[in-house]
Amino acid sequence: MRITAPDPAARVPLADIDLYDPRLYAHGDPHLVWQTLRREQPVFWQDLPDGRGFWSVTRYDDCRRVLSDYTSFTSQRGAILKMLGTDDPAGGHQMAVSDPPRHTHVRKPLEEMLTPAAMVPYLPKIRASIRELLAPMCDEKPWDMGVAMTALPMIVSGVLMGIPEEDHPGLVRKGLMTVAPDDEEFQVRNDPDATLRAAHHGLFAYFAEQVRIRRRAPGPDLGSRDLIGRLMTMTVEGSPLTDGEIVANCYSMLLGANVNTGHVLSAAVLHLMDDFAQYDRWASDEAGWKTGLTEALRWSSPVVHFLRYAVEDVEIGGQRIRAGQGVVAWIASANRDEDVFPDPFRFDVRRRPNREISFGYGPHRCIGTAAARITLDITLREIFSRVERFEAAGEPEHLCSNFTGGIKHLPVIAYPRVNRSAGAA
Ligand code: HEM
Repeated sequence: MRITAPDPAARVPLADIDLYDPRLYAHGDPHLVWQTLRREQPVFWQDLPDGRGFWSVTRYDDCRRVLSDYTSFTSQRGAILKMLGTDDPAGGHQMAVSDPPRHTHVRKPLEEMLTPAAMVPYLPKIRASIRELLAPMCDEKPWDMGVAMTALPMIVSGVLMGIPEEDHPGLVRKGLMTVAPDDEEFQVRNDPDATLRAAHHGLFAYFAEQVRIRRRAPGPDLGSRDLIGRLMTMTVEGSPLTDGEIVANCYSMLLGANVNTGHVLSAAVLHLMDDFAQYDRWASDEAGWKTGLTEALRWSSPVVHFLRYAVEDVEIGGQRIRAGQGVVAWIASANRDEDVFPDPFRFDVRRRPNREISFGYGPHRCIGTAAARITLDITLREIFSRVERFEAAGEPEHLCSNFTGGIKHLPVIAYPRVNRSAGAA
């Protein structure tokens, strides 16, 4: 997603607004659109040419309400704008598209495997793989940080899900095909629908096979071996998950884990290349370390939106939403709300308070928050200890997607620190 700091006096005519079009996020100025809507029509109806239509909420408080009030706004019919109007077949069977109480029953046993303490045994392996990924960074030749950061989260999800390393590149690609089927770089036969189908089919078949492999050698530790084993052994209200439910949750876990984390760092570096003072402050200030990371999450907002459907007629921001209508909470807009974040288009590594909602809000708040923060922390320490400054080596290219705000290519030259003890690492 292109991240700009729009002129406060600028606006987009409401009739020209199209938040559905994935090209807006690759080539346009979504922040100018959201700035306009927050001021002029914070709850905004958009008709699509095919007869569908949806509400957009763009202010912080309204986004939090839509994401958290599951009695008024259900996840069960689907959570992604691209699928608007088509009920998700996994509704009620996959955690991300279920409402409490069933959602809570599935989530709890998975949560236990994703706490900071549960991740400790994996850290040496994760650290070593991150070092390997970053090895070519300081060759003083152009290095595509976008490609490296797109691959980064699979290092962590691979360990947590027990996925063999040789399968990682194929899964990363299928993740991109799923969240950005309109992006020509990842398309099958130049067809977004065929791309989505191929990715979907490939991922479901892959995880069905992973389940079969584990069934052939279950062992008493299956439930604690990895997240797939946990899904295979948990019971929900007295019954085990069906194979369809296990596979659907593997799919959702992989996508949740793989398509966001690295973009936080690409977006931060893209900005800080022109803001050396902030880069230095962040790299050298252990006390301000965490606030810098939180600010990078707010700044990048790699999950741009989530969708809900109104369960009954409900009012929000003075607008009447009819039962059954789709409502999109634009997280990336909430994170720039002027009423909550003073000077929201300034990247401030010491920003406090910073109540960003990049991981969402309410019962579906990201289950991988600790995993993502740990990944970002390790990667940043490695970067800050080795790189004195970055310089652009070409134009960045943004993912064509209204869901994942990502940078697919970011050519940079990383100039190494002479004294490697500098930096917060
Ligand atoms: C910076 C990185 C990440 C960001 C910004 C992010 C963002 C989000 C957001 C906004 C939600 C809320 C969905 C909703 O309200 O419907 C969510 C849910 C979820 N995330 Fe993440 N995520 C990240 C990393 C991860 C990682 C590393 C994992 C796995 C290890 C993960 C797995 C999931 C899953 C499974 C859900 C669904 C949770 C539920 O329905 O209760 N995410 N994430």
